[in-house]
Order: sequence, then C-alpha cells, then structure tokens
Amino acid sequence: MNEKLSTEDYKIISIELEEPLSELDASTLKSLFADCDERELAYELDESEFVLFLNAIDLEVFKEKIAIVAAQSNSQALNALLGRTLDEIDRIRSYGLKNGKRVYVGYDRERKVLARKEKETRRQQHYYANENDFSETNNPLPAEFENQIICGDSVDILKRLPDNCVDLVFTSPPYNFGLDYEANGDAHYWEHYFDKLFAIFDECARVLKFGGRIVVNIQPLFSDYIPSHHIISNFFISKRFIWKGEILWEKNNYNCKYTAWGSWKSPSNPYLKYTWEFLEIFAKGTLKKDGAKENIDLTADEFKKWVVAKWSIAPERQMKDFDHPAMFPEELAKRVLKLFSFQNDVVLDPFNGVGTTTYVAKMTNRRYLGIDISREYCEKATHRLGNTLF
Ligand SMILES: C[S@@+](CC[C@H](N)C(=O)[O-])C[C@H]1O[C@@H](n2cnc3c(N)ncnc32)[C@H](O)[C@@H]1O
Repeated sequence: MNEKLSTEDYKIISIELEEPLSELDASTLKSLFADCDERELAYELDESEFVLFLNAIDLEVFKEKIAIVAAQSNSQALNALLGRTLDEIDRIRSYGLKNGKRVYVGYDRERKVLARKEKETRRQQHYYANENDFSETNNPLPAEFENQIICGDSVDILKRLPDNCVDLVFTSPPYNFGLDYEANGDAHYWEHYFDKLFAIFDECARVLKFGGRIVVNIQPLFSDYIPSHHIISNFFISKRFIWKGEILWEKNNYNCKYTAWGSWKSPSNPYLKYTWEFLEIFAKGTLKKDGAKENIDLTADEFKKWVVAKWSIAPERQMKDFDHPAMFPEELAKRVLKLFSFQNDVVLDPFNGVGTTTYVAKMTNRRYLGIDISREYCEKATHRLGNTLF
C-alpha cells in the first residue's frame, strides 16, 4: 500500500489465512486489484493474513470480476478467500453512495473532517511537545545492562546508562520512598516524594530512545486528594514528551471500605470511590516507533481489544506468595509490552519490585533491565526469571 495513505482513510477487513497463498494465487489476486485506485481499494497480503483496505467500491463490478476469477481458477484457497471477502464487505451495513459506488469512510462527515483537519493544523497537535531538543540518534544498551536485575537506587544506576538506549519504560512507582511523613509534615512529604520520583523519571526520560515510550501505572491517592496521575503527566508534558494517551485499568475491586464521616446521603462532602487505576503513556519526540514487522507479536484480536483504552484485569493474586504489597498483574504487563514495543526491544522497569515487567519481557522475547532498591525483591525477581544472581 502506498505509505502516504493513512489507515484512517479505510474500513479495514482482515482475514486470517489457514495457510499461505500459492504464488499463482497471489499473482491472480494482484491482477484482480491491478486496475483499482489505491485510494479506494487496496490490499496487503502476507503468509498469515489478507487485509483489505476499503474506502469505496462498485460492488457489482467487483463481484463480476471475482466471478470471472472463480470461473478461471480452480484454487479452493483463493476462491474461499474471495468468497469470505465478499461476505465481509456485504456485512458492512453503514455506507454512503456516490457515483454508483458504496463509500465506507467519511461519507457522512466529509465536511466535518475537512473542518477538523483545518482546525488541527491551526491549533497544532501536541503543541506543548514540539519544541524539544531530543537527539534522534539512538544508542545500543551496553551489554553489562542487558537482561539484568540490578539492586540499587534507580537514580544512581540509571546515571550509568547512555542517552537514548531504552525502547520502553513500564513501571509503577512506589507509594513512598521511605520518607519520614511525620518529620517532614504533609506538604513537605509530598514535595520530597515528587522530587525523588522526578529525579528518577528525569533519568528515564534521558535514557529513553527517540520514539520510545514511558508507561506509568499510577493509583492516585484519592483518600488524600493527591492526583498523582495528573502531577506525573504534568511533569512529562513539561519535559516536552507527547502525552500518547491514558488507559483505565479497571480492577473491579468493589471492596473499598472508605466512607468519610457525614458523607452518607449528603452533598456536604460525598466521598468518591474508585475501582480502577491509570496507565499514563508518553512518547519521546514522535508518536511513531520504529520496529521491524517480523518483531510484531500482536494478533489482530489483541490489537482490536487492547486499543480500547479500558482494560478489565483482576488485581494481582500472587502478592502473598511473593510477599510484595504492590505488584501489578502479568496480564497488564503483557498488554503494555505487546502494544507499545516490538520483540527484541529493550524494556526498563526502574521500580521493578519482584520483577513482573522483567518476567513478562523475557516471556515475550524482549530484552530487559529491572532495578529495585530492595535486595530481597531483586532476589525474588531474579529467581522468577529462573536465574541465580548472587
Ligand atoms: C509499586 S512497587 C513495584 C512492583 C512491581 N511492579 C511488581 O509487580 O513487582 C515499587 C517498587 O519500587 C521500589 N523502589 C522504591 N524506591 C526505589 C528507588 N529509589 N530505586 C529503585 N527502586 C525503588 C520498591 O522497593 C518497590 O518494590
């Protein structure tokens, strides 16, 4: 497909192939589409999938062309694929009609889209991140850090890494850094907390590659009215990272026990309850990440499901076994890693705990670096990886 064309311009039909098409079938397919205008109808074929990019079609003419191919070809695989394609097209019920063609994209909002595009250019996408001075030169991760669990303070360990050498940071910050709440008083406590956190995030931002992503799992401290997810987002925005989006991790844990005195059935100070946490996603320099097609390990179903930014995943159940109070589940890490990185990418977790991120990275063929200040957690993370570190 012409690379200048965007998938936004098409309705996409993807059909998984039980086995690759023969060369002859592939070339018959090519000739079937030879006189199609790519802006209206195009396709991509690989060994396991046929993807149709559908913008507009004269369905009757297309059916006739397929009937001719079917009469000439005795390939069951090709005929089955074309039959399935027609069924899928027929199944789409929303389309407009223009010059005898069914139009699937933009038929009801052509004017609106034009106005939107104009508006976007005027107001500038991610205006807050555009004037950055990120180097576009990425560096390899030094071998001594590859596939390692390191015990130490992330602010110190990360200083030993070169700029731009990590593809994805996925992490969940601690609720506290062992700061003395009483001694500092409330306001100071939180100032110190964020100072410490941002010193580590500053290093993460530096070691992240151009085009890399940082995904931070955060539970705001609702009970103290501390919107950590907004404070952290503001930090990355001030560093000129692009806010790529936010995923709501629905944990469905309805057993929150908090109820403020006097809040029952009164507007005086109702206490809001939450059953979810957030994942804030930031990109360095560009929203598009480089990666080889063969290193994608997402299925079409996973992609379709996971881009809907509300994920229902039960909280981690192994916390007692690992004796760690704040683990996230492997399923959460799996989705983040597969949706935001390629196989063989370098994944960093600067608050690695008992190693959920690094374990999932290993399981999904990514390289990893996990750092935690607790020796006990590092040992557990290492054990989980099936290695012996000490
Ligand atoms: C919320 S937990 C992460 C749990 C992890 N996601 C898992 O599933 O096991 C935060 C971790 O940050 C670690 N930590 C706190 N301060 C740190 C620091 N300065 N450098 C590195 N790790 C730190 C804590 O020991 C704790 O394990």
